[in-house]
Amino acid sequence: MAQINSNYLKLPGSYLFAAMAKKVAAYKSAHPEADIIRLGIGDVTRPLVPAVIEAMHRAVDEMASAETFRGYGPEQGYDFLIDAIIRGEYAPRGVELERDEVFVSDGSKCDVGNIQEIFDTDCRVAIGDPVYPVYLDTNVMAGRTGARDAATGRFAGITYLAATAENGFRPALPEEPVDLIYLCSPNNPTGTVLPREELAKWVIYAQEHGSVILFDSAYSSYIRDPELPHSIYEIPGAKEVAIEFKSFSKTAGFTGVRCAFTVVPKALTGRASDGSMQSLNALWNRRQCTKFNGVNYIVQRAAEAVYSESGFPQICGQIDYYMENARIIRAGLSGAGYTVFGGENAPYIWWKLPGGLDSMRFADTLLERCGVVGTPGVGFGPGGEGYFRLTAFGDRERTAEAVERIRSAALFD
Ligand code: MLT
Repeated sequence: MAQINSNYLKLPGSYLFAAMAKKVAAYKSAHPEADIIRLGIGDVTRPLVPAVIEAMHRAVDEMASAETFRGYGPEQGYDFLIDAIIRGEYAPRGVELERDEVFVSDGSKCDVGNIQEIFDTDCRVAIGDPVYPVYLDTNVMAGRTGARDAATGRFAGITYLAATAENGFRPALPEEPVDLIYLCSPNNPTGTVLPREELAKWVIYAQEHGSVILFDSAYSSYIRDPELPHSIYEIPGAKEVAIEFKSFSKTAGFTGVRCAFTVVPKALTGRASDGSMQSLNALWNRRQCTKFNGVNYIVQRAAEAVYSESGFPQICGQIDYYMENARIIRAGLSGAGYTVFGGENAPYIWWKLPGGLDSMRFADTLLERCGVVGTPGVGFGPGGEGYFRLTAFGDRERTAEAVERIRSAALFD
């Protein structure tokens, strides 16, 4: 008899965004006339910029000729894209990386989910609360947790790092020693960016405890404040303790195209069961070569164009567009007397529901009364209860209309 991985049974039935999509589809089928505005999943709506499209067309043409056709590429990504990433993303911030420290992939969701495979199942994991649910779910699947407590919504064996309005959504250092620390900055869902001195605290903690920081900065291109760090490697010593994840999904509208990258510095090591120190870069390389065949050539050429002379201003324009949506949501909701966070250096608005209302129930209310879809805070962890996330990735007019509907609706009677 084939035994299943019973750890999967510890998880709630569906992944957050799949559950929300099902809920909205059911509502739409019951109310086909409903004019629904989707500000739920952080999916982009603007088309790819011209420089990216042109690069894709050129790459497609190369595939049509025997001289320039490409089959399997390097599992780690083509040098032309890795060089563009180092030049465009890291060099301007004074971060030096070598080519074989950057791993191109088909998405940060996959990488942040898969990275835990290279660590022992006994590792103690610290995760923000609330935060992007993939970190927790993948550790549950791997068997790093006990059961979920129905009363608290927490999994045994996980160290939850509370991010609350009181602590400015900047979690305190854990009181117990932890081995793996997931940090997300700009944070999904709260929109908070950890400043340099805050990141430095985590780097020192990791140095002192032999921990590894898994730093998800998929939204760094939305940072407006020039004082805020875009990469953990801007902090001295971080290369010895941190892996970093970045993505073209939100930076350049690649949610459907799929391209991201993960940096695993060669200075980073972990302890093996025999006590020897092993390179995490070598382990991740081994994992990728075994399980992944690289991102397709056409997409990598498209990603390279993001850093080109014409492409970069174009994607900056697109980010400006979304950040103006964020401003409209923030201004509209706070003008209506609501308390909102985020949306200034991140494309998410974290809305505090009056009276700490049940966020799942509020998702239904908002859909029924306004035809607006958002994401219930509790989906990001028990600490997200009483909050609601709206995304700035919508179309401008529809976003403005959603805000107007919210402002004029009686939502909390
Ligand atoms: C989100 O809405 O949090 C993201 O779009 C989900 C993802 O990137 O996987």
